[in-house]
Amino acid sequence: MPLLKVENLKKHYSAGLFSRKVIRAVDGVSFELERGKTLGLVGKSGCGKSTLGRTILRLLEPTAGKVFFEGRDLSELKGRELKKLGRKMQIIFQHPEASLNPKMRIYDCVAEPLRIHSLCKQGAEKTWVYKLIEAVSLNEELLFRYPQELSGGQLQRVMIARILGLRPKFIVADEPTSMLDPLVQAQILSLLKNLQQEYGISFLFISHDPALVEWMSDEVAVMEMGKFVKYL
Ligand SMILES: Nc1ncnc2c1ncn2[C@@H]1O[C@H](COP(=O)(O)OP(=O)(O)OP(=O)(O)O)[C@@H](O)[C@H]1O
Ligand SMILES: [Mg+2]
Repeated sequence: MPLLKVENLKKHYSAGLFSRKVIRAVDGVSFELERGKTLGLVGKSGCGKSTLGRTILRLLEPTAGKVFFEGRDLSELKGRELKKLGRKMQIIFQHPEASLNPKMRIYDCVAEPLRIHSLCKQGAEKTWVYKLIEAVSLNEELLFRYPQELSGGQLQRVMIARILGLRPKFIVADEPTSMLDPLVQAQILSLLKNLQQEYGISFLFISHDPALVEWMSDEVAVMEMGKFVKYL
């Protein structure tokens, strides 16, 4: 059984209150993803890559189609079950600063998801946070700073540590490094690859850069106008 199975997924938008036009952002995408593998996704701006990633994760309600994760139809899950499975499906965005609360110290940014999902026993939080920070090769001194006192690369590592605490099985990486300079980009991508090997995580890796996607992925899909048109 694949980890993730996407069946004829669609996300359509109305073009506006007074328009009958429909924007077919995602228009019938199907694929399967095995454990520990990466599907790369390339395509022109506006072809539907981000919408696909978000619809798979149910951050957007699909217009049609189904998503199965660990064999379960996500549309049939509710409440605690959805929360439990949802924890295993995460997203890394281009702008980590937008997802981190500027008033929270880095320590709390990393600890917050552990608290929300009750993932560590009382008294074990600190050990976990330090482990996570070490896993993403961040200096412990940064734990008591605020997000605005960190560089873009450091912030992206914080985001990865935050997500890693949730023990994800599937991550949508939506242009996670396109705002970073090439050296930092390479470091972050290597980190993701190492974590993938260590924890058997599957990725949907979205990028504008075909060479980069090819390096990161086991298979690369090309998207055009909401559809997969070929595999590279
Ligand atoms: N909330 C929305 N309402 C209406 N149209 C939308 C909405 N969100 C996205 N779209 C449209 O859906 C299409 C796909 O957008 P999407 O952001 O998925 O593209 P993308 O491939 O990720 O582009 P980029 O490479 O620039 O990030 C675009 O035409 C966009 O304008
Ligand atoms: Mg996008």
